[in-house]
Amino acid sequence: MAFETVARLEQIPPGKTLRVVVADRAVLLANVGGTIYAVDDLCTHEDASLSLGCLKGELISCTLHGSRFSVRTGEPQEPPATEPLRTYPVRVRAGIIEIDLAS
Ligand code: FES
Repeated sequence: MAFETVARLEQIPPGKTLRVVVADRAVLLANVGGTIYAVDDLCTHEDASLSLGCLKGELISCTLHGSRFSVRTGEPQEPPATEPLRTYPVRVRAGIIEIDLAS
C-alpha cells in the first residue's frame, strides 16, 4: 500500500467529481453522499474523459457514447463500454484525500 495525497475533501462537494493526475495517470474522484471513490478517468470504450460527464448517484456518464459506470465498482451499466474502470482504494484523513495507485 502506498497512499498518495491527491486533493482536499473540500474540493469535491457531494455529487461532484474532480479529475486529478497522479504519476501520469488521470484519476476521477467522485463524492457520492460523502464517500469518495476513485476510478480511472479514461472511458474504457474510447478515449473520453469521464470528468466531462455527469454524476448521478454512484453512476458517471460518458459524454461520448453514453455508457455509465459505477464509481464504486467500476462496472459499466450498459454498452458500448464493456470493460470495467480500474478502481483505487481511497482514504480520507484530516480532510485530505489519498489514493493507492499501486494496489
Ligand atoms: S468513449 Fe465512453 S462510451 Fe464511448
